[in-house]
Amino acid sequence: MQSETAICKPRHVSIIMDGNGRWAQERGLERVQGHLRGVESVRAVTEESVRQGIEYLSLYAFSTENWGRPKEEVTYLMSLMFKSIMNEMDNFMRNGVRFLALGDKGSLPGVLQESIAAAEKATSANKTLTFILFLSYSGKWDILNAAKHLAKAATESGNPDEYLSKIEEKDFSGFLITAGIPDPDLIIRTSGEQRISNYLLWQGAYSEFYFPEVQWPDFREEEYKKALKVFASRDRRYGKVK
Ligand code: FPP
Repeated sequence: MQSETAICKPRHVSIIMDGNGRWAQERGLERVQGHLRGVESVRAVTEESVRQGIEYLSLYAFSTENWGRPKEEVTYLMSLMFKSIMNEMDNFMRNGVRFLALGDKGSLPGVLQESIAAAEKATSANKTLTFILFLSYSGKWDILNAAKHLAKAATESGNPDEYLSKIEEKDFSGFLITAGIPDPDLIIRTSGEQRISNYLLWQGAYSEFYFPEVQWPDFREEEYKKALKVFASRDRRYGKVK
């Protein structure tokens, strides 16, 4: 159940980082240069989240659909992700950041899986900010997986009808990959596109949306503060009357 009290600061901010390729192409650069600059925005937003006292920051870094990009770009992104996780470890430790990666991790290259496991382990006791990378993730994949796990649990219960009759929305949330993580209060998508693109379809049911025109490589501290200000001015009613 969501809280109905007015909350000015989001507990969980989630970002669809869009516009890296266009940012680069508009400057006559290779698309991958946009991704490289995008990593600097990730750092800026992470550090600002720590300063603002935000508890969860999650980023849509690679969707299930992104596997369909040209092979060289996918290889570059996987390698960038690996290097960035390694490079950010000191910052994570210094800032008390707990790192998590969520998605179909088994489909990622072995070295990336290993770096993720190492970063999750090393940062597991950090408490200031939980930083989540959604990798090889899609909302429909997550919901379908949850349904499969639920069906399995129902079968194993010995009395599927009774088991399923007691399942409520909060129980279903527990089968999603985000189990235990609060739903995003604010979802930001950069680059002016106004779509959810198969992102947190269940978890975003009552999220506030913000669509700045700026592309991800240019989304830094000031743009982020603007987004937080807009969020603070929103009136969240969760379908009720105030
Ligand atoms: C969207 O821009 C961006 C991505 C698909 C990749 C974003 C990934 C990073 C910035 C790496 C971050 C990783 C860590 C660990 C810090 P796009 O290519 O869809 O842009 P376009 O819409 O202009 O083509």
